[in-house]
Amino acid sequence: MLFGKTILLTGVASGIGARTAELAGQMGAEVIGVDVREPMGGSAAFIKGDLSTASGVAEIVAQLPVRLDALANVAGLSGSTGIASTLAVNFYGLRALSEAVAPRLREGGAVVNVASIAGYGWRANLERAKSLTAIDGFPEVAAVVAEHGLKDEEGYPLSKELLLLWTMRAAHQALFKNHGIRVNAVSPGPVETPILKQFRAVLGDARVDSDITRVGRAGTAADIAPAVLFLCSDGARWINGANLAVDGGLEASINAEVLGF
Ligand SMILES: NC(=O)c1ccc[n+]([C@@H]2O[C@H](COP(=O)([O-])OP(=O)(O)OC[C@H]3O[C@@H](n4cnc5c(N)ncnc54)[C@H](O)[C@@H]3O)[C@@H](O)[C@H]2O)c1
Repeated sequence: MLFGKTILLTGVASGIGARTAELAGQMGAEVIGVDVREPMGGSAAFIKGDLSTASGVAEIVAQLPVRLDALANVAGLSGSTGIASTLAVNFYGLRALSEAVAPRLREGGAVVNVASIAGYGWRANLERAKSLTAIDGFPEVAAVVAEHGLKDEEGYPLSKELLLLWTMRAAHQALFKNHGIRVNAVSPGPVETPILKQFRAVLGDARVDSDITRVGRAGTAADIAPAVLFLCSDGARWINGANLAVDGGLEASINAEVLGF
């Protein structure tokens, strides 16, 4: 399903991005990897770039070919570096890259956003998510944080709430929709990658362990990669604006407890 396709993939130096790039290659795709850090090996084509600033995104875009089949937005920060950088990389930079890449994506192409179960509060915090996603372009994120009185500890879940809301919006935005570009999200539960250690520091061991206990084990990058690539493929041609939970059943377990069924 990916043979001959060119996939732009962020976060390629580690964890889910590294495994997704490897699997995409095995499935016949060409991968152009992007990361702020050099990957250890792997991806044939690599662009060293920083998604945390508008100029960083512009420098990445300037190095891209004119035609791409899919964009997999995997890069992310845990929140441990503060809310401004986390919102910048996980949402505003991701969105700026997606909007800049859209004109290069072929008809029927795809954008896949790696969100998180941590973003499921978007409904409860809808007005906040609506106003923060309504800000056009790549804003001065520190000023947005100050203006909205946002707290450091909200950074990671908020970034994923914005991403899940925007995924649905973008699926119906002319820039993507009029060119037949699908926009979807994948939401992993806890996955054994370097970022999980940072989540433990930010959220506490008890919260992370309780999520893992519910589903028997933590996920691995190899559990997430096939879902990202499926949504990049033509096999997902009628899936648009969707969020695919790849969490071993965690969301179902939490829903059952919260909603009492
Ligand atoms: N691991 C988990 O438990 C888990 C759970 C849910 C969602 N996620 C999401 O999955 C995605 C991948 O995370 P992972 O688990 O592979 O973590 P990871 O830390 O192994 O990989 C993240 C990658 O993003 C890159 N990155 C960070 N800042 C960047 C920047 N400014 N510009 C370019 N690249 C940058 C890092 O260098 C790193 O290679 C993230 O969006 C994360 O939020 C992870």
